[in-house]
Amino acid sequence: MTATTPPPLAADLTAGLKRLKMAAMRRLAPELLVTAKTQRWNPEEFLRTLVEAEICARDASNARTRLRQATFPVTKTLEDFDVTGSSIPKATFDYLSSLEWIRAAENVCMIGPAGTGKSHVLVALGIAAVEAGHRVRYFTAADLVETLYRGLADNSVGRVIDTLLRNDLVIIDELGFAPLDDTGTQLLFRFVAAAYERRSLGIGSHWPFESWGRFLPEHTTAVSMLDRLLHHCHTVITDGDSYRMKQARARGGTKIKTS
Ligand SMILES: Nc1ncnc2c1ncn2[C@@H]1O[C@H](COP(=O)(O)OP(=O)(O)O)[C@@H](O)[C@H]1O
Ligand SMILES: [Mg+2]
Repeated sequence: MTATTPPPLAADLTAGLKRLKMAAMRRLAPELLVTAKTQRWNPEEFLRTLVEAEICARDASNARTRLRQATFPVTKTLEDFDVTGSSIPKATFDYLSSLEWIRAAENVCMIGPAGTGKSHVLVALGIAAVEAGHRVRYFTAADLVETLYRGLADNSVGRVIDTLLRNDLVIIDELGFAPLDDTGTQLLFRFVAAAYERRSLGIGSHWPFESWGRFLPEHTTAVSMLDRLLHHCHTVITDGDSYRMKQARARGGTKIKTS
């Protein structure tokens, strides 16, 4: 056992790599030095292997941080979404999965009744975007408006918006669950207007656009907001039966059969 344990790295190298925060290199170097010597690697190959290991570890760690910062309420994947069982055309789903729209700072609006996969697709796209190196933030509309409201108290709305727009994609789910007051509508408009043509927004709502007046009482602002939101937007209508209900029925059916 001990014969296969590589000798530890020289103390000065360990200290240097620690100071430079090259944790993966530090972990890998002792064993790699042995391998490189016994297999007579050329020096460039040795260096490349170390550098690649460090880059790989950094990428993975950055992706984990971005995933945490995105604050997704659940974990959903594009692979787990049954496209043929949904009303979303396969071509639309494939285009959205390409994440091309995020690079183009375009929006996605998922509109449809409860349980038809709006949040699943938005979260799954968000997670795919994080894995592709993008910065993403998930909000329910109520949480976003509350965050903006807090900025109102100490005059920092502009700064809060700027910080949020460091993300490449901001998801605003459950828009219209609760009606917004005039100030809430104004704040949401400010956010949508600031994101316009700069960042992608992913919206989930059970209200078709023509009904947005129900939760956005201030008509002029509502119209201006929709105007900016829809200018570069992929609208996806999800309809059909609730997937939750379908699953509940399927479970119910099994129970009846086995009892
Ligand atoms: N086409 C689908 N394929 C796989 N799971 C689905 C599909 N549509 C919905 N679901 C699942 O059903 C549940 C409800 O979907 P969700 O996206 O939360 O609905 P919505 O946001 O439209 O109310 C979730 O657990 C989701 O993963
Ligand atoms: Mg939802």
